[in-house]
Amino acid sequence: MEVIRMRTMTMGALAVFILAGWTGSALAANEGEVAEHLIELVKIGRGVVSEQMANINDQTKGDKGFTGDYMAAQVMDRFKKRTKIDLRIPNAVPQANLYLALVEAEKEVVDEAQPVINKVGISFKGFIPAVFARRTGEHFYKKSGVRLKLTGIDYRNPSNKPDDFEAEVLRMFSDARHPKGQSYVRNTMLDGRPVLRMMDPEYAAASCLGCHGSPKGERDVSGHKKEGWKEGELAGAISVVLPLK
Ligand code: HEC
Repeated sequence: MEVIRMRTMTMGALAVFILAGWTGSALAANEGEVAEHLIELVKIGRGVVSEQMANINDQTKGDKGFTGDYMAAQVMDRFKKRTKIDLRIPNAVPQANLYLALVEAEKEVVDEAQPVINKVGISFKGFIPAVFARRTGEHFYKKSGVRLKLTGIDYRNPSNKPDDFEAEVLRMFSDARHPKGQSYVRNTMLDGRPVLRMMDPEYAAASCLGCHGSPKGERDVSGHKKEGWKEGELAGAISVVLPLK
């Protein structure tokens, strides 16, 4: 067990810290904020992949220069800008190890995809933000025991299938009365253990409709059937399950 010093957290929460079970690191009592930060970290990484799409799908170019190190650096830079937390400083916050495990997961996913990313002669390679997010969640779970996934009602990949809790919250998000963009957080039990669950809704942007839009049932560039979403509709959610105690 580690002894935790109180420190002023830049996000504003001065919290009583409790010890957490994973990798010997400590977790702030404000677990909601931790869950938000994890969501932020995966969103940033996904955004980086999104920016790289034209580069990744350039069939004339071999080495794209889009490496795991590039990803990790971008994620840490942008996270610092948004939260003032500098993950390059050791123990910047008590839960820094958990955040770094997620950065590491994002790095690994990009590193593992190098042979695909750097392939010459094919344009669409299937390395897209949603795939990056799914693989990152899988790597991160192995490292931390924290579940992080992209899910949706009309999911494409079985790994993204919502569980009962997620399905219920997705239904709530898709209700017109739900305030747009408002996330959902709850302390509950999973497999007999206390957890914090957070879900952050996501909506279809114009850029999504080439694959998820109309006409419904037509194949998109990835070979999946389009869902017929319209701009602004609920697309899905990022879901986090953070073990407590
Ligand atoms: C190039 C085509 C393409 C584009 C553009 C695209 N997606 Fe997807 N999306 C996919 C594929 C393929 C999957 C399945 C990924 C996997 O294997 O986990 C997916 C998965 C998802 C999922 C997870 C649930 C599921 O279906 O498995 C969500 C949520 C999602 N996309 C939302 C979006 C949003 C929001 C946008 C726009 C910001 C977007 N997508 C843009 C192809 C696309």
